[in-house]
Amino acid sequence: SKQQIGVVGMAVMGKNLALNIESRGYSVSVFNRSASRTEEAIAENPGKKLVPTYTIEEFVDSLETPRKIMLMVQAGAATDATIQSLLPHLDKGDILIDGGNTFFRDTMRRNEELANSGINFIGTGVSGGEEGALKGPAIMPGGQKEAYDLVAPIFEQIAAKAEDGEACVTYIGPNGAGHYVKMAHNGIEYGDMQLIAESYDLMSRLLGLSVDEMAEIFNEWNQGELDSYLIEITADILTHKDDETGKPLVDVILDAAGNKGTGKWTSQSALDLGVPLPLITESVFARYISAMKEERVEASAKIKGLDVTPFDGDKKELVEKIREALYFSKIMSYAQGFAQLRIASEEYGWDLNYGEIAKIFRAGCIIRAKFLQKITDAYAENPELKNLLLDDYFNEITQKYQKSVREVVALAVQAGVPVPTFSSAIAYYDSYRSADLPANIIQAQRDYFGAHTFKRKDKEGTFHHDWYTK
Ligand code: 6PG
Repeated sequence: SKQQIGVVGMAVMGKNLALNIESRGYSVSVFNRSASRTEEAIAENPGKKLVPTYTIEEFVDSLETPRKIMLMVQAGAATDATIQSLLPHLDKGDILIDGGNTFFRDTMRRNEELANSGINFIGTGVSGGEEGALKGPAIMPGGQKEAYDLVAPIFEQIAAKAEDGEACVTYIGPNGAGHYVKMAHNGIEYGDMQLIAESYDLMSRLLGLSVDEMAEIFNEWNQGELDSYLIEITADILTHKDDETGKPLVDVILDAAGNKGTGKWTSQSALDLGVPLPLITESVFARYISAMKEERVEASAKIKGLDVTPFDGDKKELVEKIREALYFSKIMSYAQGFAQLRIASEEYGWDLNYGEIAKIFRAGCIIRAKFLQKITDAYAENPELKNLLLDDYFNEITQKYQKSVREVVALAVQAGVPVPTFSSAIAYYDSYRSADLPANIIQAQRDYFGAHTFKRKDKEGTFHHDWYTK
């Protein structure tokens, strides 16, 4: 008999996803380019309905039609190569599902090319890391709706469940919409991570708190508004000690952040679309500057900040201000990220449903957080909301917490502790709520040196001033 679904790629994400699907009662064919990975996956999981196959023909032939084939291979060239090797063996109506961290424009291209051969192509975001893949990720599928409907029952079963029991998967939109939303999720993930890193830095450098004390604080924060997976794992990370030296493990980890490019893509897309996305973009740059470790070490010997007297105020009070600043800044980041989704949706004709997207972020994914319920509620109240900051809840809480972020950023700047995302958060807030910005000067300069013209506040039309005669 034929199997219900196939998974190509037996690296950890593919293997775990196959096991997740199998655990819901499906029979799963698996294939990997090198047979050893397939053999391993089978040997590690005796008694499971994973059916190994060792050639593409055997794999394709083992599946019920219309075939449902999940690609869990490296994004980019490997994905194209896998599609090409499958294509001659597929029939019209078969469904390929790319679950990698694929660039959304590649998904748009593949969706269109494959549609010409009658093959459905779903590009889906899968978030939650290895554990999520195995036990319940958040899933962001985009592509032909009719094709998605055929795999929806499987996806709904394997996805994480939010507190109200809803599965963290929803049809996102046509062609590249799912991968775009996953990309934006990752950009937001970069922002969240940098904000937490800055909070840690402030508590450590400004307040001199120990790693153990900070673990305690993140733990407390995780009980309130900031309740989220990333705060939770940060608290846990801070409790781990290095086996060799006995030091907190974070103290021996090199401060040079890596990245696989999804955060960069988010910023690039924002620049292309003309959407302000400063916080996430600062978080990408913060990783880049962190990676210049040697150059920073050299510079640190030569370039000095001010000598400042150590903080001698109430430490507990400042910790609470940092918490408020973090929540405030997180709101700015999501406001920017969701505004980007709105513009992208218009640009690419995706008709995204922001409330549904916030809903599926509530569990399973890396940015899962209690606060996503607030975003869900905001869009339920007003599906056309231009910016989250205009929602009553977010407006009130940010007005309330702005004092803290202003104080924290001022202290950080005085003490020479870099806070690129905190400071960009308050700058965005102040820009967004400014009826007047100094762009009149920019326009005058452009007109001055390049006759680029300007508009006037008091009447319609386009004007040029002869700046060279007084
Ligand atoms: C997820 C993660 C996952 C991953 C990315 C980002 O949602 O499960 O975002 O996709 O960690 O690969 O990684 P980088 O930090 O290396 O860019």
